[in-house]
Amino acid sequence: MKLIRPGKKKTLALLVSFILLVITGFALKFPESFWAAPLVRWEKDFPLRGLVHRIAAAVLMGAAVYHAMYLIAMKSGRQWLRAMLPTVKDVRDSVETLGYNLGYRRRTPSYPKFNYAEKAEYWALVWGTLVMAATGIVLWAHNLMLEYYPKWVMDVATAIHYYEAILATLAIVVWHFYAVIFDPDVYPLKWTVLTGRAPAHEVREEETEPASAAVELAQASGVVPPASAPEPANSANVEAVDVPVAPTDKQCVN
Ligand code: HEM
Repeated sequence: MKLIRPGKKKTLALLVSFILLVITGFALKFPESFWAAPLVRWEKDFPLRGLVHRIAAAVLMGAAVYHAMYLIAMKSGRQWLRAMLPTVKDVRDSVETLGYNLGYRRRTPSYPKFNYAEKAEYWALVWGTLVMAATGIVLWAHNLMLEYYPKWVMDVATAIHYYEAILATLAIVVWHFYAVIFDPDVYPLKWTVLTGRAPAHEVREEETEPASAAVELAQASGVVPPASAPEPANSANVEAVDVPVAPTDKQCVN
C-alpha cells in the first residue's frame, strides 16, 4: 500500500495500538458495561482483553523505543528533537495567541517549526507513554512485584495506570481530535498525516518563520499565488505545497 511507507508505520502502530489499549483497558475495568459485556460473553474463559492489551502495549512500547533510537542515533532525529524543545518564545507565543483569540491583538505571532501547542502535545504523549509503560509493566509483572514489594505498591500503580488512562483518552478525544479533525481550519481531517504535505494557506498562517522561504519559492514558481493576490473563495482548496516542516518530520510523533 502506497500510504504505508516506512515513515508512516510508526504512526500506524501508535494509532492502532492506542485504540486497542483504550478499548481493552476499559473493557477490563468495566466488564459489566453495555459496550463491553458482549465482548466478555464472547471471549468466555479465554482472557482475550488481557492478551490483546498486552500485545498492543508491546507494540506501543516498541514504537516508543524505535522513536527514541531515531532521536538519538540519526542527525535528522537530533535536529527534530532540538526543534521540539520548549523555549521562552513558546511561552510568549502562547500568551500572544491567547491575546489574539480574545481579540486584543490583530495578528497571531510568527511560530517556529513546531508551535507551542504542538510541542505541548508531543511532550504530553512522551510523558503519558512513560507513565503508562512503567505502571503497566508493574501490573504485568504482578507476581514478581508482590514477592518483593508490599501490596500498596501494586495498588498505587493500578490507580495511576487507571487515572492516566482516563487523562490520555480525554487528551486524544478532546485535544488531539480538535487539532486534527474538528478545528474549522482543517475539518474534516488534517490530511498531513496521510500526505505529509501542508496546504499553502495553512503554511502562511501557521508557520510564518521557517516556512516563509518555502512559500516564496512556491510563489516564484507559480505553485501558489503571491501573498498580495486575493485568496481563493475556499482557501482549503489551495493546492498543497511541500514545506520545510517536511513530509515525515511532523509525523514522527511516536
Ligand atoms: C504502555 C503500555 C501499557 C502496558 C504495559 C499496560 C499494561 C496493563 C496491564 C498488564 C493491565 C492489567 C491487565 C489485566 O488485568 O489483565 C492493564 C490494565 C489497564 N490498562 Fe493498560 N497498559 C498500557 C497502556 C495502556 C493505555 C495507553 C491505556 C489507555 C489509554 C490503558 C488502560 C488500561 C486500563 C483502563 C486498565 C484497567 C485498570 C484497572 O483494572 O484499574 N493501558 N494495563
